[in-house]
Amino acid sequence: MLQGKKIIVTGAASGIGAATAALLTRQGAEVIGVDIQRPAQFTGQFVQADLSRQDSIDALVAALPSGLHGLANIAGLPPTRPAPAVLRVNLVGLQYLTTQVLPKLADGASIVNLASLAGLGWADAKDTILASQGLGFDEVEAFCQQHGIEGARSYFFSKAALIAWTLQNRWTWRARGIRMNAVSPGPVDTPILQDFIETLGARAEEDMRTMDRPGTPADIAPVVAFLLSDGSGWIRGANIPTDGGMYANVLCQMNGL
Ligand code: NAI
Repeated sequence: MLQGKKIIVTGAASGIGAATAALLTRQGAEVIGVDIQRPAQFTGQFVQADLSRQDSIDALVAALPSGLHGLANIAGLPPTRPAPAVLRVNLVGLQYLTTQVLPKLADGASIVNLASLAGLGWADAKDTILASQGLGFDEVEAFCQQHGIEGARSYFFSKAALIAWTLQNRWTWRARGIRMNAVSPGPVDTPILQDFIETLGARAEEDMRTMDRPGTPADIAPVVAFLLSDGSGWIRGANIPTDGGMYANVLCQMNGL
């Protein structure tokens, strides 16, 4: 349970972020929701911020209290949006927010990144991922051009880089007991599911045939909540596929099982 924990949830106005914020509140947490759009109703504190912009993130962090017990990085853009925007929100802004929030986290805090099944091939993009680390907001456009990141690749790359960054930071804040993990859903029925189907075309249709059903935000929120709770304290730098078996299916096909 999350009784008495103060937790930031980004993307709290819709889909997985909204379901997570509601579940954490039911489990006793004090939630501070963050999103670019203001939700019609929200239980807990809400701060409007544009996580694609450094100045907006700076203002958000300045407004946050100290002693936070968790950060759920859930805000994200789908592959139908321009590549630089996808990278700014899903990767550069997420990383900047996380590093800026660190001084305001309590020892023992938990950070959870919403990645995706789309990022599980991160090892194939290793060199580009390493080149992206430390990228400034103003450098994203040139980076996309230089590395041919356009169309749906922006989304795949942002999630691959996020998974790799989560693994890399398995022990970065170990002295303070702060840990970071990722959750990788398969297709989830939220307002952006249609964007995935449009962009990924045949692949998305094949995925949907293979699956018994798409996920729902209620399938994902409890996994995020568990990673934010003390019961998952020994889980560090992990990426948890939460996808109805899709990742296992990919691995079986790849390895002839
Ligand atoms: P959603 O569109 O319902 O929610 C995303 C939220 O992020 C929205 O409320 C949006 O306003 C917010 N957001 C976007 N840009 C922002 C910005 N610049 N600043 C602040 N907030 C911003 O989508 P959903 O499905 O709930 O997505 C949540 C996360 O889950 C995303 O990171 C997405 O990539 C990931 N995911 C979603 C899957 C799906 O099939 N729906 C599958 C795998 C991962």
